[in-house]
Amino acid sequence: MASLDRNNKILLDLVKQPGNNLCADCQAPEPDWASYTLGVFVCLNCCGMHRNLPAISKVKSIRLDHWEDSLVEFMQQRGNSVVKALYEKCVPAFFYHPGPKDCGVLREQWIRAKYERREFTGENSMQRSYSSGDSEYESVLWKKGKNNKQYQRTIFLLSKTNFTLSYYIKDDCKGPKAVISMKDLNAVFQPEKISHVHGLWISYPQEDYTRNLFVYHEDGQEIVSFFNALRATRLAYLQRKHPSQQIHQLASQITTPIIKEGYMEKTGPTQKESFRKRWFCLCLRKRTLLYFKSPLDAAELGAVFLGSESHGYAVSESRSQSVRGSRWHCEIKLQTPKRHFVFRCEEEGDQREWLEAFRNVISQPMTPEDYAYEATHRRWR
Ligand SMILES: *[C@@H]1O[C@H](CO)[C@@H](O)[C@H](O)[C@H]1NC(C)=O
Ligand SMILES: [Zn+2]
Repeated sequence: MASLDRNNKILLDLVKQPGNNLCADCQAPEPDWASYTLGVFVCLNCCGMHRNLPAISKVKSIRLDHWEDSLVEFMQQRGNSVVKALYEKCVPAFFYHPGPKDCGVLREQWIRAKYERREFTGENSMQRSYSSGDSEYESVLWKKGKNNKQYQRTIFLLSKTNFTLSYYIKDDCKGPKAVISMKDLNAVFQPEKISHVHGLWISYPQEDYTRNLFVYHEDGQEIVSFFNALRATRLAYLQRKHPSQQIHQLASQITTPIIKEGYMEKTGPTQKESFRKRWFCLCLRKRTLLYFKSPLDAAELGAVFLGSESHGYAVSESRSQSVRGSRWHCEIKLQTPKRHFVFRCEEEGDQREWLEAFRNVISQPMTPEDYAYEATHRRWR
């Protein structure tokens, strides 16, 4: 019993050291688990993924399980930094590193690519097509119809030389349904919204609105490979556009997460119109609040550009007077130089999150790109 306590104590000291203090796979703080075959400390979520790879990884709790001396010594020799140098020796710049908040398929495929397929150890010279010099990548995905809920088999083709994503309906030889530029394309996994664990949302500007595509593939490896191939294509575009910028700087701009999404109620420009429930989506990179009739719409109803505080943008909470048609009472006022918006949230927690999200955007100074985007991109409503 004494030896058990001693070994757990050694591990608990070890896990506090730099490198070990963040999950080896998703960077979550204070990992509580360890793979004693690989020699890494991981969080509870990633531990669950390791359990699915019993041939490669065996896990134990560093607090609750019994550890033999030899396993503790192995953990002391290895640890997250040593193992990272081995298994993440050559991760391509475009490859997405998942964080603790990312969905399961991204974390699972990252762990499989790293330890099971050993894609980044440098030993098997990157045969995966998304990472090689291949200029094209093709994937057949299920894509939601523009005006209905049906998902249809659709061929997606990426071109690193044309900087485009095109898609074709299967068995239709009429040419692509759309050829999409990499310029402002974004892609984010959204399993809950799409109601599929591998659901991926792709958005891009079309004329003066944002077009949304919702896709998935039954196979986790296939959808994550497609996502990374798409990131490789967009990085190629960014490198062409900004040849003097460092690749790791460009890599952080490849795709942008959504800051917050969800339903709020919204009134019209005179604020006498009745409130209507809309699906809102706030994106930091474009400083844009989009709103939709429902979450899986192909196009938005409107878009609001969010400048900075010093340019007359402000946000505040207020108590709502009862207004016709409104069932929700937690109110947010958003002031822009052109218009005052009033939104209502169902609950205070939601209101707080939206306020924080808006403040996050408007507290940041505008970049030259932001000015250009505001001036030229679209009619803001
Ligand atoms: C690239 O562009 C050329 C010329 O427009 C076109 O013929 C070709 O099919 C494109 N390739 C891909 C993969 O989109
Ligand atoms: Zn983790």
